[in-house]
Formats: sequence, structure tokens, C-alpha cells
Amino acid sequence: MATLAWLCAYELSNSCPRKRGHAIRNGMGAFGPGTRRPGLTAWRWRPSIDVSVRRVTSWGTGARVGGWCAVAGNATMATTFAIISDIHGNLEALETVLADIQRRSIKEIFCLGDVVGYGASPRECLDLVIETCAATLCGNHDQAVFYEPCSFNISAERAAYWTRQTFEEEPNAAVRKRRWEVLGRLPYRYEVYGLLLVHASPRRPVNEYLFAEDCYTNPSKILANFERLEPQHMTCMVGHTHVPGVFLDDPYFEPPGELPQANRYTITEDEKAIINVGSVGQPRDRDVRASYVVVTTNTDGSNGEYHAEVEFVRLEYDIDKAVKKIFAVAELDDFLGTRLLDGR
Ligand SMILES: [Fe+2]
Repeated sequence: MATLAWLCAYELSNSCPRKRGHAIRNGMGAFGPGTRRPGLTAWRWRPSIDVSVRRVTSWGTGARVGGWCAVAGNATMATTFAIISDIHGNLEALETVLADIQRRSIKEIFCLGDVVGYGASPRECLDLVIETCAATLCGNHDQAVFYEPCSFNISAERAAYWTRQTFEEEPNAAVRKRRWEVLGRLPYRYEVYGLLLVHASPRRPVNEYLFAEDCYTNPSKILANFERLEPQHMTCMVGHTHVPGVFLDDPYFEPPGELPQANRYTITEDEKAIINVGSVGQPRDRDVRASYVVVTTNTDGSNGEYHAEVEFVRLEYDIDKAVKKIFAVAELDDFLGTRLLDGR
């Protein structure tokens, strides 16, 4: 039987050159073409013994286990999981995404929050997330329903209060209690397979919006978020803006379709990234299809190199059905339905 060992071996290094020339383009890099940002250190871990290593952390229905799990041998170890976010009570979109994940035989799903708010099926969506996701983070709309909506526009605030009311009206006391328990215990940060998961940003995990235009209008905001990444975090996965894509620390933002390999991004030890997985239930990039990502991590046991492939997935779903359900609820503004038809 393979011998298991526990280890944690990091080596900070500032000698790792960028492998991806696209990261600095058209002079847009904050410190000029081809230069590294001063003070930024890339990180690399190396196993001290001949093992392949992965981060193992689970939460939800099972027990919580944390640490670096070392597995003896030289074989490349691959793990595939899905990350979803911003479902917003859209059951039709969620069921479509979960069916696609199941079709791919993916067993592990992580949710970055905003399960509820805006949409007409918050109870059904929360129940499905509880049932299928290994971990779910707290989004600002989940927080608004459990605590109080703050700095919400009128439409979002009305939706939050209506969502709270539907939870309170659940006739099954045990189900009602379970939903409130889950909503009240959603974590703000979560680490898995070397990734940091948050709803919004590394700096303000619940509320801060990281927009593509911030790279030009407020680059210090993006850089400050990269500085919040700890050495063990290869990449941070976020949602919140409902716009999928990859932030690099130049800073620069690339939509999935403009990546060197369309709709795919490779996480390496040499390049920090903040990746927005997009929204399942309310996309805002003018693409009406549901959005989520599939991540496949690979650790080569022979040299300890780690990389992960992120695939951005878009899926058509029954939008008309979701829109009609919103129209049927007086407390939900019609705009919350029509925006689904425009992807905004
Ligand atoms: Fe959201």
C-alpha cells in the first residue's frame, strides 16, 4: 500500500519569468511591456520527497479535512471539479448546468454564492445547492436575505425581502430550519486544490466588484487584490459581477473568447490570476447562456509541477420559463425577467 505522508513545502521565488506573452499588451501593463511588477514574487512549491501533492479540503455533507495530502508514486494525478456562482433563484439555468456537470461525470461542485435573490425559485435552488455542492460561499444576496439588504437598489431590495418571505412561508418546519441554518453558516473564504474561492474579491470577499474596466480606470484596485493573495493560492476564483473572464496582475482582463486558447485558461505556478466564473442564473456579458467553469488540476509526480486547466462553459436553457415565473411574482420587478433575455 502506498505510504501517505504529510508535507507542506513552499519556496518563494522572484525568478520565474512569465510564460504567457499575452499578459502585457499594447503598453497597457502598469509597468510597461515585458517588465515584472516591482515587489511581486511568483511562488513555487517543490515536494521534499518523491510524491505528488494536492490540496484536500472538503466541507458540506462530509467532514472537514485540511492539509497537503501527499500520495506516493510518480503518476500524474488529475482532479476535475466544477465551480458555479450567482444562481440567483434561476432554477431552469441551475438544472441545466447541473445536468451538464453530471453528463461530464464530475463529482465535485463548489458554489461561490448568490444562490438566491432576483429569481423566482430561491427555495428550490438552495435545496439543489445543498444537495449537490461540496461547499458554498456567502454572496451579498445570500447575506441580504439572512441579515439585511444594504446598499441595494429598490428592485434588489424588494427581491431580497420577497425571498426571505418565501423561506418563512415554507410549511415544513425541518426544511425551513435547515435552509436558514445553511444560509447563516455560509463561509466567506474557502480553499481547495490550491485555489482561493470567494464570492466577490480577495480583498472584500462578499461585496467588492472587480470590473474589466478597473484595469484601466482603477488599476490600483486590481493590484491591491492580487497583493491579498497568499503564497499558497495559485489563483482566486470569484463571481459577483456576472461577467466571466481572467484578471492578470499587469493588470489586464481577458474575456473567455479572447484567451489565447478560446474559452480555456491554464493556471500555472508562474502566473497569478483572478478568474471570474460568470453567472449561472443572470449573465451580464450580453450572452444570455448560463455560465460556469470546469477545472482540471494536474500534478506531475515526477517533477512536482502543478497546473490546472479552466474551461469556461456556456449553456442554453429555458429562459422564457424563468422569465415567466418572475413576471408572475408581483414583488419581483419585470426588469429582473427581461434582463435575462438581454444578458445584462
Ligand atoms: Fe450576484
